[in-house]
Amino acid sequence: MNILVTGGAGYVGSVVAEELVRQGHKAIVFDNLSKGHKGAVSPGAQLIIGDLRESKDLEKAFSKFKIDAVMHMAADTVVEHSMIDPKSCFQNNVIGSINLLDFMVKNGVLKIIFSSSAAVYGNPQGIPIEEDHPKNPVNPYGDSKLMFEHILGWYGSAYGLKHISLRYFNAAGASELLGADHRPATLLIPNVLKAALNKKNPVSIFGYDYPTKDGTCIRDYVHIVDIARAHTLALRKLEELSGRAYNLGSSDGYSVLDVIEVARSVTKVEIPVKICSRRAGDPAAIVASSSRAKAELGWKPEFTEIETIIDSAWRWMKNHPNGYGD
Ligand code: UFG
Repeated sequence: MNILVTGGAGYVGSVVAEELVRQGHKAIVFDNLSKGHKGAVSPGAQLIIGDLRESKDLEKAFSKFKIDAVMHMAADTVVEHSMIDPKSCFQNNVIGSINLLDFMVKNGVLKIIFSSSAAVYGNPQGIPIEEDHPKNPVNPYGDSKLMFEHILGWYGSAYGLKHISLRYFNAAGASELLGADHRPATLLIPNVLKAALNKKNPVSIFGYDYPTKDGTCIRDYVHIVDIARAHTLALRKLEELSGRAYNLGSSDGYSVLDVIEVARSVTKVEIPVKICSRRAGDPAAIVASSSRAKAELGWKPEFTEIETIIDSAWRWMKNHPNGYGD
């Protein structure tokens, strides 16, 4: 199939495109390169530089290729940034995404797999979180993802759009070729590993007074290759399962301190830390139940151990100390 991968030069999108190419699809990467990198475009994929808010860019993509389906990853993804600049978050994640849907409908492209997020749940009432848990996002980012899930529902009933939303928990790790290069770097695991590479810069621990076992936030880290495989499974079952949402996590929670300890053992470096105040918008603990994805999509995550996830990220970082170098 010819699949448009929005945000396909970004962290998760690049690995989704890589997996599509591996499975024999044509991956057309659509990315404005504001956060993505040319070097992250998977070998075998085709890049269109464009912005979802620009109709002429979407026109270019839809007129040049006969697109069969869309995997939609392009978004502002930094929770903290969304707290201080909700406008940019909603413009990109909601308005840009509606433009995409309108081009899809206009061109008869009625299949979409949407990159949603654990952030739709907010502070959970209990863990692990199942998909029908109440949705009370505590930051604009999570709200933007929830809004778009609802919009997909309405486009489904009105225009026959087939859609599945995949709610990623904390995407982590690297494939052989592709890894995390965010600027500025915000994600915990890359920051911990940067501190291991350059011991002069300690890793900040944002918050030591959360109601968790050691006072630091708990997250569920899931390997990006496993996330990518869930996309192709979802596409295969889209007709049958349209309208469903699936959590993608490893069902294990690790605190910030746990992650640092595992990284110390993987890297064999005594990683320096510094205690800082809480970061705005961070829920204390989120851990997925992914049983629905396993039962309905047939998802079998392969890289579930936190050591394996951190080891893959470490190998990538050692091979790419300057990220994609652009
Ligand atoms: N953290 C630190 N130091 C750092 C970076 C992060 O202590 O240098 C902490 C954060 O405060 C948080 C935890 O580590 O408690 C994880 O933070 P990340 O930035 O790695 O990830 P988030 O949980 O904030 O968010 C990520 C994605 C979101 C997605 C969410 C879903 O960035 O897009 O996971 O769980 F919504």
